[in-house]
Amino acid sequence: MKTLKFAVLPGDYIGPEVMTVALDVLKAATEPAGIVLDYTEADVGGIAIDNHGVALPDSTIKICEDADAILFGSIGGPKWENLPPKEQPERAALLPIRKHFNLFANLRPGLLFKELTDASPLKTERIPNGIDIVCVRELTGGIYFGQPKSTTILEDGDIEAIDTMVYKKSEIERILEVAIASAKARSGKICSVDKANVLETSVLWRKTATEYVAKHAPELELSHMYVDNAAMQMARDPNQFDVIVTENMFGDIISDEMGIVCGSLGMLSSASLGTGKNQYGNPFGLYEPSGGTAPDIAGKGIANPCAQILSAALMLRYSFGLNDIAQKIEAAVKEAVMDGNRTGDIAFGQKSIETKAMAQAITERL
Ligand code: IPM
Ligand code: MG
Repeated sequence: MKTLKFAVLPGDYIGPEVMTVALDVLKAATEPAGIVLDYTEADVGGIAIDNHGVALPDSTIKICEDADAILFGSIGGPKWENLPPKEQPERAALLPIRKHFNLFANLRPGLLFKELTDASPLKTERIPNGIDIVCVRELTGGIYFGQPKSTTILEDGDIEAIDTMVYKKSEIERILEVAIASAKARSGKICSVDKANVLETSVLWRKTATEYVAKHAPELELSHMYVDNAAMQMARDPNQFDVIVTENMFGDIISDEMGIVCGSLGMLSSASLGTGKNQYGNPFGLYEPSGGTAPDIAGKGIANPCAQILSAALMLRYSFGLNDIAQKIEAAVKEAVMDGNRTGDIAFGQKSIETKAMAQAITERL
């Protein structure tokens, strides 16, 4: 009998709706193997502001520290948008939790089944076999965290805001290592995305990528691409990529583009892996859908739960080493989505999904 100890942080708007059904699916998938789920729920984001006065309470951090992984929902929304920027859920909870647990590697699979190419805004002839790529985004460095970061009123009355983009070679190397592992398990191709024609951090990024791959994985095919070109190429021919590795902000933007090119942000899962290891010797990680809280459809029972369910599958794979069950869940999602053609799209509030029915359809196919 194995017990999986993890923290559950549902968050705001559709967060709790999709989390509830994801936990049901997780239970149904693990029970036959004699696995017990031992999870503790905690507030994060807007609900934590309402209940505790801060977006990331110490009590929530403690629950996460005592766990082997974090299953995260999504946070933020209109209710808290009038707070000062630094107190808003995204900046006051999501970024600090990533930093606190050193979750430097964000893996976002971009997957579109070939039977569902209609869901993509791309013409089917451009993606006849669907899409299968992965974005490996650096998550704890770059312009999100660099100092100084400030807004100042100047002597002449003008206002100046500063963000600073900083990268160390060691930070680039450790994310490359994750990209290399991912590429080895796939087709062996890595595209490193940067802006080396303008940014110093990107010059270092490109040089480090070239040297590191040559030294540690010379069998892999490494290419480099400027981020503006990468954005264009993603819309033109996404399958020219296999593993994309890039810095924090570029990865934020490219992965959203990848999500919509793959048909729906409601299908986009993610794993954020840290430097820390859990009691199984696997990476401690945070697993979250990439689609956001979708306030416009919250409370209606129509949010697509697939991204949350697929994120739970990633948790089984990376933090608990349960690849078989993860694959089972992924296959069940694929079947359920195809059988019902229930792609939906939480980003645009397309109302083709019934959250509970979707989860039920997945459970039946496990
Ligand atoms: C994401 C989100 C976050 C980010 C926001 C909400 C801070 O867009 O996870 O992609 O920019 O990292
Ligand atoms: Mg984003």
